Parts: sequence; structure tokens; C-alpha cells
Amino acid sequence: MTPGLAALAERIAAAPRLTVLTGAGVSAASGVPTFRGNDGLWRHHRPEDLATASAFQRDPALVWAWYHWRRARIAECEPNAAHRVIAEWSRRDGCSVLTQNVDDLHVRAGTRGLIRLHGSIWELQCWEQCGQSQWREEPLPLPAAAARIDPPTCPACGSLARPAVVWFGESLDPSDLAAAGAACDCDVFLSVGTSAVVYPAAGLVHEARRRGAFTVEINLDSTPASAAVDLAIQGPAEDILPRLSLPH
Ligand code: OAD
Ligand code: ZN
Repeated sequence: MTPGLAALAERIAAAPRLTVLTGAGVSAASGVPTFRGNDGLWRHHRPEDLATASAFQRDPALVWAWYHWRRARIAECEPNAAHRVIAEWSRRDGCSVLTQNVDDLHVRAGTRGLIRLHGSIWELQCWEQCGQSQWREEPLPLPAAAARIDPPTCPACGSLARPAVVWFGESLDPSDLAAAGAACDCDVFLSVGTSAVVYPAAGLVHEARRRGAFTVEINLDSTPASAAVDLAIQGPAEDILPRLSLPH
């Protein structure tokens, strides 16, 4: 093991409070497309042009087709070694796991107390906010490559249903935001597989460092956070995290 990783593994093992923030890179090895990577069918659409309320208002059938395609991809994926290490850490007292991922791979890996900052791709909510609480829908039996699909509807009022995810320009759930803020009070903060450009999640590592945490980034590439953290490790999360997990 490289000396830097061995020392970090010891530091993580000894940390009374560990916080892990994840992004799409953690699920990349499972086969879930990242947002800013280049992926087949939807490569001509920027996420900023699909994951917004105005895109949905303009063309709900297009936005639903994109979500349906992503759901179909996610349904075929399994958690990888990075999800498993994080799930193991989550069973320790004092560990918080925050994710920007709307896939359910952290959940399927058994992560405890997961805070899903951007919601879940499997949940729906009423577009008209009629008061119906969020609901879960099994994947629709449609071809994954459909270019447009009829949007599902709200069981209470019959208006359009939308994915219960946070879109660009929307606020995070205040209780998730409060929990994320509290998790910045930690000894070690790991930012894993995120391009660190979408706020407020991207601000958490800086907040943790301000509050005295030892901050670490694990990413294939450098990001805007790389220069600001105490340690930036370039490499795949699914290889690096298992090397940071000490047997106990
Ligand atoms: P991005 O797609 O922006 O970034 C993924 C990051 O993972 C990149 O920095 C890659 O270099 C890195 N990466 C890829 N494969 C990796 C691997 N195997 N190991 C480690 N790192 C790897 O995804 P996010 O940062 O999660 O928001 O994006 C943040 C938010 O923007 C998303 O939650 C979503 C998106 O638009 C909303 O929908 C609101
Ligand atoms: Zn409704």
C-alpha cells in the first residue's frame, strides 16, 4: 500500500466522526452514467437542459423519456466495492453519508442513515403540488430507448407526476440541508466521485475544512475542490476506497 493511503486508512479508522459525500463517480463502475460524461443516447442533451422545471414544463414527455432511460440503466446495475466500503463505514457511530446520487446503489449496499440530497429517481411527486405525498412506482414496462413517453399522473388529482428529484434551480429539502450542515462537524471529510461544481453540495467540503476537518478528495480527475482539500487522491473510487478500509 502506498504510504499516503496507509496513513489515511489509519486516520479514517481512528476518526470519531467521519463524513462521506458522494457523487456520480461512485456509481460509474456499476455502469450508471455520470452527468458530465459522454453517454450514448443522451449525449446531445446537457443535464441542465433536461433536469429543470422549465424543461419539464416545456416537454414532460422528453424529460420522462430521459428519466425512464436512466431508471432502466440503474435497474441493471449492482453496487460496487466503493458502495460496499461506504456501507461498512456507515455502521460505525459518528459516520454520516451524504449522496448527490439519485440511484439507489448506496441503499442496496446497506448504507445506514443515508442522506439523499438530490432525492431518488424511483420516487414521484405531483407536479401541481396538490398535497399528495411522494410515492414510488415500479419501472414502467417500456422500451428503454423510447424518445418520448407519456408522463405518469398523480393518483390524487390526476395532474402530471414528476420525478421526486432536485432539479437545477430548486432548493434542497431543508431537513437534508440541516443534516448535511451538521455532518460538516467531523474529523475526516471524504468527497468521492463528484465534479464538485453543483452547489450547495459542492460547498460542504469547504465548510468541513473551515470547521477543522481533514478533507480528502477521491476522483479520477482534478476538480475545483482539488486545490482546497488537505489531500487529493486521483484514482477510481472502487479501487481506492477498499484500500482505505482497515480490517477490524
Ligand atoms: P458529475 O457527472 O458531474 O461528476 C462525476 C465525477 O466523478 C467527475 O468528476 C469524474 O471525474 C468522477 N469519476 C468518474 N468515474 C469515477 C470513478 N470510477 N471514481 C472516482 N471518480 C470518478 O456528477 P456529480 O458530481 O455527482 O444534480 O454531479 C452533481 C450533480 O449534478 C448531480 O447530483 C446532478 C447533476 O446534474 C442534479 O440533478 C440536481
Ligand atoms: Zn396531485
